[in-house]
Amino acid sequence: MMNSSIGSPEFADSFMVEKLSEFGLAVRYVRAQGNTLYYLADDGTEVGVLDGVSGFGSLMFGHNNPEIVEHAKWVLDQQTPVHAQMGGYSFALNLAAELNAIVRRELGTEDKFYAQFGNTGAEAVEIAIKHAELDRVIRIAGLKGGIEANLGQARTAVAGGATLTEAAAAVAGGTDIDRLVAEVSRRNAEVEARPPLFLALEGGFHGKLVGSLQLTYNQMLRGPFKALAAQARFVPRDQPHMIAKVMEQERAALLDVVVEDGVVDVVERDFPVFTAFVVEPIMGEAGIFPLSAELAGALREACDAFGVPLISDEVQSGMGRAGTFLAGTRIGLRPDYIVLAKALGGGIAKLGVVLINERLYHKEFEFMHSSTFAKDGFSTRLALKVLQLLEADGGKAYELAAERGAKAKAMMEAIKADYPEIVREVRGEGLMLGFEFHDQSGSEFPAVREMHQAVPLLILGHMLKKHRFRIARTASGPWTMRFEPSIFLSDDEIAVVDVAFRDVCEILRSGDLSRFV
Ligand code: F0G
Repeated sequence: MMNSSIGSPEFADSFMVEKLSEFGLAVRYVRAQGNTLYYLADDGTEVGVLDGVSGFGSLMFGHNNPEIVEHAKWVLDQQTPVHAQMGGYSFALNLAAELNAIVRRELGTEDKFYAQFGNTGAEAVEIAIKHAELDRVIRIAGLKGGIEANLGQARTAVAGGATLTEAAAAVAGGTDIDRLVAEVSRRNAEVEARPPLFLALEGGFHGKLVGSLQLTYNQMLRGPFKALAAQARFVPRDQPHMIAKVMEQERAALLDVVVEDGVVDVVERDFPVFTAFVVEPIMGEAGIFPLSAELAGALREACDAFGVPLISDEVQSGMGRAGTFLAGTRIGLRPDYIVLAKALGGGIAKLGVVLINERLYHKEFEFMHSSTFAKDGFSTRLALKVLQLLEADGGKAYELAAERGAKAKAMMEAIKADYPEIVREVRGEGLMLGFEFHDQSGSEFPAVREMHQAVPLLILGHMLKKHRFRIARTASGPWTMRFEPSIFLSDDEIAVVDVAFRDVCEILRSGDLSRFV
């Protein structure tokens, strides 16, 4: 018995703890180090659990990494100004410069990326979409200004004897310039009144705040809160051709007038309908699905053609987890915005950042957005250390992520080969791996079919109790276990996962769920 099991009602999470307790999953951890979380057994001894959840991917360097902890203490000893709002921060500026150096190297570009800081992943996503919306609004204002000037010119031209083309007269319902101006303005006002629209991928996850939630596909999470913010249209990740198609479907235009050779004609100007297209290069909560290079190419092409900014949400996949600083680099993704969080804080601080390409950047945004704790001296100084650890020894950490990940993935592939009827697929890059079981609702065993909804949780509970291995399933892919350990994953730890998964496969093959602890 673990005395750290939680069962009694508490003032927070009581419902969640109750549910997790049913599967033995409510364990209170008291210490964490490397890839291990510890709870106290009844006799007071510490019991270690291999942690494959790894702070939902925040722990590239493990729990309480000694170098990061040491640095954190040093940062405090230095009396680092944690708060120095209104231009008083220096470490945030250094961090922005370091991030630029790494991102420019990976993308092979000289472009500058301006940083805007936030505290969490969802917040950083919302900063990105907020900036993108400012950009859209400014573009619309520019369009409208041009159209108004052209309408003025048309009036002057008609006063000087110019006439309307047939098309212009059709819009005006006659040949009167005042009526043309009124009708153009009325129709344009209708288009301008449309709410902005986002584009995202089916299965995507970008956070749970009211704005980012609209980009999060999961209906259970998003459904009740749809009315709170602008909506997204979702595109399947495996149909690159659909991207341009959906953009075409939603296309809208403003009417403009041109005066040429004494005639006034009407023309259409593309209206920026979309605020942004937001994607994860490796879709996490969907069930660990790396995007294809084909999709990355189609995204860039369509976004260029329709003037839609492309936001790459690297909150989970970035910071070296995939074997490169940005997971998007592996598929040639060329984003306008890059969002980072999670591992940026070294597993200790809370920090998010958006990097915005200079071509789209609006400097007035710096006065339009802020947050009390964003850019704080402690977090940004820790993040500088994290970048140093990533880049040390010619990027050894990236190599470790790729090599350790490949080794863990090969282990999982071997299990799949041995249990093809139990394991559906192994996916992922580097240390962002998904191990998918076949949906047991179609099991040959009636008892398993009946219990199929509980099976993923039985699996988690069994691995935790019997194998002292903690893993989570992805929210939208309940049969997919997500494995995101630190780069210090050892061969012994891989062996623990191997034994645990194989044991689960054996039980599922036997159809005897009572064998689950
Ligand atoms: N974007 C992605 C791709 C994420 O995976 C997450 C969080 C967020 C944004 C939001 O970040 O939690 O710091 O606000 N993913 C968590 C997960 C919930 O389960 O991996 P946040």
